[in-house]
Amino acid sequence: PDHTMDARIATARAALGTDVVLLGHHYQRDEVIRFADYTGDSYKLSKAAAETNAKYMLFCGVHFMAETADILAQPWQQVILPDLNAGCSMADMAEIGQVEDCWDSLERAGLTDEASGGLIPLTYMNSAASIKAFCGERGGLVCTSSNARGAFEWAFARAGKILFLPDQHLGRNTAFAMGIPREQMVVWDPYQINGGVSPDRLKAAKVILWKGHCSVHQRFLPEHVDRVRREEPGMQVIVHPECRWEVCQKADAVGSTERIIKCIEDAPEGSSFAVGTEIHLVNRLAKRFAPLGKRVITLDDAGCLCTTMYRISPQHLAWALENLVEGRVVNRIKVEDDVKQWSRVALDRMLEIS
Ligand code: 13P
Ligand code: SF4
Repeated sequence: PDHTMDARIATARAALGTDVVLLGHHYQRDEVIRFADYTGDSYKLSKAAAETNAKYMLFCGVHFMAETADILAQPWQQVILPDLNAGCSMADMAEIGQVEDCWDSLERAGLTDEASGGLIPLTYMNSAASIKAFCGERGGLVCTSSNARGAFEWAFARAGKILFLPDQHLGRNTAFAMGIPREQMVVWDPYQINGGVSPDRLKAAKVILWKGHCSVHQRFLPEHVDRVRREEPGMQVIVHPECRWEVCQKADAVGSTERIIKCIEDAPEGSSFAVGTEIHLVNRLAKRFAPLGKRVITLDDAGCLCTTMYRISPQHLAWALENLVEGRVVNRIKVEDDVKQWSRVALDRMLEIS
């Protein structure tokens, strides 16, 4: 029963002591995130995972985050995802076979040759470990929403073109902010022959964007920003870079979950914000900053929910912890060694540039 969860989680945690560390992404619900030892965006949590000495890492987030923690962990550490159904629809939009087919087509078109300037694959953290390994093996790297620009600069210092996986919006927003015009970006659709892009357009492109998106952030629309401008003069609009380009163009600031929080923290009393990101974070910020005289609302009417993040419940947390107390590891996330090796290379490149 719900009312017993807090006590059961606290008891199990006390029994495990420093053997266990809880990592919580900003989109987790209140009843879960309040138990986290570390909270953060994907970048901050991957750093925490790489630095902790706890034997068990309980990841209150989604599958790709737990996989990343396992890739960065020491061999004696184990990573647990309290509910294995906590996936990410965006990460699922790039499947390794499709990405290999895409690369083969680009190779046949001569785009991977150094003579034609070269091509670097760059994947958003929100992707399977196999995609990260694919990038690592081909001289590429991983980025998060907080270091995408640095990763683009790293790649452009080594090649003329980037294949960006799997979020077309983060890729487009980042490239555009660096001064790359929209005409030099193409979208590769894995369900069409040759990605649905003509050879001429491919040759002229600087950035090839995989046709993936976040179903949560894609629900924020330019008209939501227009309405805030009309009805709430003086209110600032901050959005996550997984939002559409048209929304990001109209916003006052664009940033990762950590950056969104910092923007509000640093603003003077009396400021107000419409935020385009997941509703649990927005609601928590609204509650936290109201007593400090700052108003926070969601950018749309209803609020966008990441249903997979929401799958992690106090019940799952209690179940995973109590099994650990009994000496059983449940829902372990373990990346295969060959995949681990190359995905670690891609992640290390990211950690070096950040
Ligand atoms: P952040 O890295 O900004 O926390 O974003 C992760 C994510 O999944 C957003 O949808
Ligand atoms: Fe994936 Fe979107 Fe949920 Fe982030 S908000 S975990 S990108 S589905």
